Amino acid sequence: MRTYYLRSFGCQMNAHDAERIRALLEAEGLERAEAPDVADVLVYNTCTVRKSADERLAGHLGTAARLKREDPGRIVLVTGCLPQAEQDDFFRRFPFVDGALGPQNLQRLPELLKAAVEPAPPAGRPPGYFADGPAMSGDLAARRERPYQAWVQIMSGCTNFCTYCIVPQVRGPERSRALQTVVAEVRGLVADGVREVTLLGQNVNAYGLDLRRGGRATAPDFPALLRALDAVPGLARVRFMTSHPKDLSPDLIQALAELPSVCEHVHLPAQSGSDRILAAMERGYTASAYLERVRALRAAVPDVSVTTDLIAGFPSESDDDFAETLELVRAARFDAAFTFVFSPRRGTAAAELPGQIAAAVKRERVERLIALTQELALYSRRRWVGRRAEVLLEGPSRDGKSLRGRTRQNVTANVSGATEPGAIVEIEVTGATSTTLRGRA
Ligand code: SAM
Ligand code: SF4
Ligand code: F3S
Repeated sequence: MRTYYLRSFGCQMNAHDAERIRALLEAEGLERAEAPDVADVLVYNTCTVRKSADERLAGHLGTAARLKREDPGRIVLVTGCLPQAEQDDFFRRFPFVDGALGPQNLQRLPELLKAAVEPAPPAGRPPGYFADGPAMSGDLAARRERPYQAWVQIMSGCTNFCTYCIVPQVRGPERSRALQTVVAEVRGLVADGVREVTLLGQNVNAYGLDLRRGGRATAPDFPALLRALDAVPGLARVRFMTSHPKDLSPDLIQALAELPSVCEHVHLPAQSGSDRILAAMERGYTASAYLERVRALRAAVPDVSVTTDLIAGFPSESDDDFAETLELVRAARFDAAFTFVFSPRRGTAAAELPGQIAAAVKRERVERLIALTQELALYSRRRWVGRRAEVLLEGPSRDGKSLRGRTRQNVTANVSGATEPGAIVEIEVTGATSTTLRGRA
């Protein structure tokens, strides 16, 4: 086995896991290949948050099955959230897969690879091997993909059990990493040239609360972590995601307003604007409590960008409930939004609820959400035209003619008159679309 091909799907947590998978495979002596047909080992790091994620994966696994038929010596491994969710019938559905493991057991990847290359016992190997064991700590090294930016996992898992969501089942309970461990990792990254870190967790505002419940009464909370990271010399920017509205505390808003390195962007998934639907989702807030927090945030943090996730067509959502979501979107003036059609996931409470909404109705509602949120995004970007913004230059723009970076508000900007990736420059914004700014350094 000499080369591997890795394809990753899903959220940033999974993208960061993919960097760890690369580190593990490269420590085994494998080299990266850019296409599946030239690789000895194929690894698919999967997401199963919605049916559309499963469907996207299906095409890639079809290719893997064909390549395996052509060369049975090739090894196909599947990692991430899908095998964890479907452990019971995963190998029945995908008999050509040699081994699988879930997101909490990435450290067992070398073992999985070894089991896959060993000759089958006389009785024949069982259809596939699922590596399972105690959850990993989140301390695995990553093979970073971007020179100036890094993801830093501060928590794993989720214990919120929103009724539509599969994540708590596949990622296990909420666990925070110790503050010293996180700070040490960030210092190491800065020494390696990183200027911006994005702290990752399903609900970063709950950072440290599990440690407190576990008996460490004085364990630092999320604002304390932000303060500790703001003090790391050489670190220019700190981002974080995702924030849960129910845990957005005044202290966190204060930290955002005060700490120079903490970027003015909060991803705050609202999901719905109807109190009845929010209760059925078990989100733990009302629409007015949500809007109150957005108002407090905008009042305390000038130019803060507030982005969100929205679900259309949750079971029993009426036209009136949906109208309340549109109303919340207008009142919050979101700077950007991810919009999803509700997708029933096996084993979640919402999949069993009465009043499932017809596909055409869900589609029609999500289209209306897309139109409204794009209009707001364009308005949000246009407000920057004629003003100055700070951009961290990440690399060449798509057309290769200028450099591309992101503002503190997490908006992509194409910048002319700058030449040095990794630099932080001030730009004068000259143009805007709903997704991108254009400007001169
Ligand atoms: N932990 C984050 C939070 O609480 O906001 C989000 C995690 S989830 C990976 C990202 C988004 O996917 C959610 O905010 C939600 O909008 C969406 N989502 C999750 N389950 C879904 C489902 N069954 N159908 C449609 N959208 C879903
Ligand atoms: Fe899913 Fe809710 Fe946890 Fe987010 S907070 S990962 S939506 S259960
Ligand atoms: Fe998908 Fe797993 Fe993330 S289900 S959204 S990759 S936590």
